[in-house]
Amino acid sequence: MQILNSRRHFLKTSAAVTAATTLPQWFLEESAQAASKPLGPNDKPGVALIGCGGRGRGVAREAAQHGQMLAVCDLDEANLAQALKLWPDAKPYKDFRRLLERDDLHIIVNGTPDHWHTLVNLAALRAGKDIYSEKPLTLTVDEGKRLVQAVRASKRVLQTGSQQRSDKNFRLACELVRNGRIGKLKHVNVWLPHGRREGPFEKAPVPAGLDWDMWLGPTPKVDYVKERCHVTFRYFWEYSGGTMTDWGAHHNDIALWGTGFDRSGPVSVEGQSLVPMIPGGFTAASEYAIAYTYANGVTQLTRSTHGNGWNGSVTDKEAQPHGVRFEGTGGWIFVTRGKIEASHGDLLTTPLPSGARCLYASDNHMKNFFDCVRSRQQPICDAEIGHRSVTVCQIGVIAMRLGRKLNWNPATQEFAGDKEANTWLAREMRAPWTYDRV
Ligand SMILES: NC(=O)c1ccc[n+]([C@@H]2O[C@H](COP(=O)([O-])OP(=O)(O)OC[C@H]3O[C@@H](n4cnc5c(N)ncnc54)[C@H](O)[C@@H]3O)[C@@H](O)[C@H]2O)c1
Repeated sequence: MQILNSRRHFLKTSAAVTAATTLPQWFLEESAQAASKPLGPNDKPGVALIGCGGRGRGVAREAAQHGQMLAVCDLDEANLAQALKLWPDAKPYKDFRRLLERDDLHIIVNGTPDHWHTLVNLAALRAGKDIYSEKPLTLTVDEGKRLVQAVRASKRVLQTGSQQRSDKNFRLACELVRNGRIGKLKHVNVWLPHGRREGPFEKAPVPAGLDWDMWLGPTPKVDYVKERCHVTFRYFWEYSGGTMTDWGAHHNDIALWGTGFDRSGPVSVEGQSLVPMIPGGFTAASEYAIAYTYANGVTQLTRSTHGNGWNGSVTDKEAQPHGVRFEGTGGWIFVTRGKIEASHGDLLTTPLPSGARCLYASDNHMKNFFDCVRSRQQPICDAEIGHRSVTVCQIGVIAMRLGRKLNWNPATQEFAGDKEANTWLAREMRAPWTYDRV
């Protein structure tokens, strides 16, 4: 299989990394002891937004319906100002570590880019906060293992922002498949919007009010390039994984829900980038096909489609729209945002018999999170589910970059008998950033 991405660059940046380490005991104990001011039954939880870009502001608006927006934080003054327009009484911060010192904050909404998710989430757990974190939950498998461990030890509530879990159509599709409505499940087709193949990009002066060094955080120091920063960071492997992780955290998550492997994962993965990326441009594969197998023999093909562009626009009306199609011995069910279809109509219309297995039901992702903050129950998309879903995406990216078939052990969360592949599960962090001390 041909390797079309920069493997050499990856090996250089990951050379000194050992994967799958755990968090130290003192860190876990500190997280378990930390607590914000107790929340009375009629109190509205204090909420802070960290990362005030488009998505952060969007989900914080939803959070503001259930809690009180007390603080907003961004390292770019322009986006901080946008948030302050929405919540003029909130206190502005440029450094999330200062914000986390407050004990009147119960909830953190994390709308930072992917390479910051875990550091912010670990620091928030250590400060005793519950978290609504945007997807993809982590940048690496190693980060996910640390985060799941820290959430469990601290007994905090973390909702992953894969909000398709709280959508009736996706739940219906998965519930039908899990109850054998399409016979024996054989194959899952996942189509994700294709990414962007553009470049080369020019370096530029850092805009006034933006702390570029802090934006880069634990990632390698590079000159400011507009495309690397807001919104389009997701097409750079250094900060994200392209649409494979950006959209995979939605549709691969649904594939796991429907197959029932959402607290485990596939056992093999093989993938290919389908076009060479442009040197000096976006670094995450824009078009790709990745094949998985599960322990029960079910196969999955996740691939990019031109049916929808990177921003959801239709680029080719004839092409397959993004979504998930479950295929079994007795028919198929296709589900995407706003649409569910089946090979024949009664697959969807015949009610499930009494005694059928019902899945966790939530019709509002943010409300489900706030309900769980009060009840201390697990939300619909808890840390392990968020981690396992993005793991499917991350091991797909690794297989694509290594260019060979890899065997995955979902129990140990390592590639079986493949030392080189295992070095890809973690990334080296630029000083002074470490997971233990944020
Ligand atoms: N669930 C969904 O459907 C959905 C949709 C869009 C985006 N997202 C996710 O939301 C996240 C943000 O996406 P976006 O499009 O809003 O990105 P964006 O680049 O527009 O916004 C990110 C913001 O975070 C700020 N930031 C970066 N590091 C920070 C730090 N250490 N402390 C404080 N602020 C920091 C940036 O300055 C920027 O204002 C991404 O992880 C993305 O995948 C999810």
